[in-house]
Amino acid sequence: MESYSFRPFLSSFLILLSISLTNSIPIQEAFNHCVTLHSQTPNEFPSAVYTRNNASYTSILESTAQNLRYLLPSLPKPEFIFTPFHDSQVQAAVICAKQLGIHMRVRSGGHDYEGLSYVSFIEKPFMILDLVKLREINVDIAQNTAWIQAGATVGEVYYRIAEKSAVHGFPAGLCTTLGIGGHITGGAYGSMMRKYGLGADNVLDARIVDANGRILDRAAMGEDLFWAIRGGGGGSFGVILWWKIKLVPVPETVTVFTVTKSLEQGANKILYRWQEVAPSIDENLFIRVLIQTANGSLPGRRTVTTSYNALFLGSANTLLQVMKQSFPELGLTKNDCVETSWIKSVLYIAGFPSGTAPEVLLQAKSTSKAYFKAKSDFIRQVIPENSLNSLWKIFLQEDGPLMIWNPCGGMMGRIPESATPFPHRQGTLYKIQYVTGWLDGEKSMARHMNWIRRFYYFMAPYASKYPREAYVNYRDLDIGMNHQNTTSFSKASIWGFKYFKNNFLRLVQVKTKVDPSNFFRHEQSIPPFHTKRW
Ligand SMILES: Cc1cc2nc3c(=O)[nH]c(=O)nc-3n(C[C@H](O)[C@H](O)[C@H](O)COP(=O)(O)OP(=O)(O)OC[C@H]3O[C@@H](n4cnc5c(N)ncnc54)[C@H](O)[C@@H]3O)c2cc1C
Ligand SMILES: *[C@@H]1O[C@H](CO)[C@@H](O)[C@H](O)[C@H]1NC(C)=O
Ligand SMILES: *[C@@H]1O[C@H](CO)[C@@H](O)[C@H](O)[C@H]1NC(C)=O
Ligand SMILES: *[C@@H]1O[C@H](CO)[C@@H](O)[C@H](O)[C@H]1NC(C)=O
Repeated sequence: MESYSFRPFLSSFLILLSISLTNSIPIQEAFNHCVTLHSQTPNEFPSAVYTRNNASYTSILESTAQNLRYLLPSLPKPEFIFTPFHDSQVQAAVICAKQLGIHMRVRSGGHDYEGLSYVSFIEKPFMILDLVKLREINVDIAQNTAWIQAGATVGEVYYRIAEKSAVHGFPAGLCTTLGIGGHITGGAYGSMMRKYGLGADNVLDARIVDANGRILDRAAMGEDLFWAIRGGGGGSFGVILWWKIKLVPVPETVTVFTVTKSLEQGANKILYRWQEVAPSIDENLFIRVLIQTANGSLPGRRTVTTSYNALFLGSANTLLQVMKQSFPELGLTKNDCVETSWIKSVLYIAGFPSGTAPEVLLQAKSTSKAYFKAKSDFIRQVIPENSLNSLWKIFLQEDGPLMIWNPCGGMMGRIPESATPFPHRQGTLYKIQYVTGWLDGEKSMARHMNWIRRFYYFMAPYASKYPREAYVNYRDLDIGMNHQNTTSFSKASIWGFKYFKNNFLRLVQVKTKVDPSNFFRHEQSIPPFHTKRW
C-alpha cells in the first residue's frame, strides 16, 4: 500500500507529461513506456502492445471476438491492444490508461453480444486490455475449490476439474469458449443451475484491479463490491483477475438426451406442458428447448421443430422413472438416453459431435462465428397452448431464427433476489433467448435486426412485466435506445431495472463508492451518481 502514497503527485506529473508527450509521440508508445515504469516485472516479459500497423493486430483483435457484426470495417477500432502476461501489468495498464486519458475496454473471452469488450462507440481513442494470456487454473480437489485467471475459458475450467476428479464439476455456461472473466461477473447459467444456481452463486473469493490500480481480494474489497461483481455485469467495477470458485459434486454417470418434435408431431401440446413441468421437475434434471425451423427449402413444408436437450445428474433408469412420472408427454425412451461422464456431457450439450475427445476444450477456440443479434426474456406465466401458433407465424418469417427456452426453478428460486445482483429468481419459470444469425454481413443486416425487434415486441404480453426483465449477459443495446432525450441517468435505469430490478440501485451505490470518476465505463456500464457521460 505504501507505494501508493505518492500516487497523486506522480499522476499529476504524468498527466502533464502525457499532454506534452501526446503531441510528439504516439499514445501507444507513451502507454508502453508508462506500463514498463509501473510493472513489477518490467523486463521479464516480451512487449505486448499491438498497434494498428503491427502484422498481428487484426488476428488478435478478431481472435476471440464472437459477433462478426462488431468487426465490420466501418466500426471503430482500438488504437492498440495490450495483452498482459502478469497481474502487475494489468495494474499498470489501468494506472497508465487513466493517466494518459485512453479509454479502456477489458476483454476475457470476447463473447459479449454487443461487442462491448472490443468496440467503443462512445470514445476515441480506445484500447483493449485483452486478458488472453492470463489463463492459469489451479484446482484443489481436497478443498473443493479452484482459483482461475480471468482469461481462461469455461471449457478449460471444466477440463481441469475433470482431469483431477470424475465427481466434481462447476455450474456455469453451456458454450465452452466463454471467458470466465466476463461470464461469471454477469451471472453464468448452465445445465446445473436448477441444482446449484449460477456460476456467480458459487464464487468464494476474487482478485480485482480497481480504478486506482490496486489489487483487492474479497477481504480488501469488502462485501459490497464483492456482491456487485457477482452478477452486476462486466466492465463496471474493475478488472477481475481471478475467481475462486466452489466446486460442486456430480455423479460419475450422468445421462443426456435430445428429443425433437415438429409441429406435425404435436410440438405445441408438449411445449405447453414443458412450461409447467420443466421449472418444477426433479432438480437433477435440466431440459432446455431449442426451437428452430426445418424444411425451409420444401415449398409449403417449412415447419417449426422443438428439441428437448437435457442433462440429468443420474442414471438413465432413474431418469426414465422421473420422466414417466412427471413428463410422460415427451415419450422419452431408453434408446434416447446416453449415459456418460459429466465432462462428456459438457461436450454433448455444447454440440460437439459424439466421440469428440475432451481435449478439444483446451483449444479454447470458437468454431462458429456469425453476424448475430440476440435478446432475452424471463417468463413468469405459462404461454397458453392456443397462443403458440401465433408465435410460429412470426417465427417463420425469419430465415434462420432460433429460440432457446431455459428452465429455472429449483435452487434458482431459493436464492433471494437481492443475494446477488442477478434478480430473476423466485417465480421465474424459464428464460427465453431469441437469436438470429446471418453470414452476408451488412447486406441483410437491417432485415434481421428488424425481425428480432418485431418478434420481441410481439412477445411482450407473454414476458415478465414492470420491469420486463432481461439477462445482462445477453447484453442488448436496444434497451433504452428510445429514451435519448431523458437524462443519461434515467436512460441507464431503463436497462438497469430490467437487468437487475431493485439491485440496480445498490449497484449504483457501489459504483459511486469504488469508481466515482467512472473510469470503467461502456455503453451500458453501471453509472455513478452525478455522471454526465458514460
Ligand atoms: C455463443 C455464446 C454462448 C453463450 N452461452 C451462455 C451460457 O450458456 N450461459 C450464460 O450465462 N451466458 C452465455 N453467453 C453469454 C456470456 O455469458 C456473456 O457474453 C459473457 O459476458 C461473456 O464473457 P466473455 O469474457 O467471454 O466476454 P467479453 O466480451 O470478453 O466480456 C464481456 C463483458 O465483460 C467485460 N469483461 C470481460 N472481462 C472482464 C474482466 N476480467 N473483468 C471485468 N470485466 C470484464 C467486458 O468488458 C464486457 O463488457 C453466451 C454467449 C455467446 C456468444
Ligand atoms: C507486434 O507487436 C508485438 C507485441 O508488442 C511485438 O512483439 C512484435 O515484434 C510486433 N511485430 C511487428 C512486425 O511489429
Ligand atoms: C422434412 O421433410 C421430409 C421429407 O418430406 C420429412 O421426411 C421430414 O419429416 C420433414 N422434417 C420435419 C422436421 O418435418
Ligand atoms: C431528441 O431531441 C432532439 C432535439 O431536441 C430531436 O431532434 C430528436 O428527434 C429527439 N429524439 C427523440 C428520440 O425524441
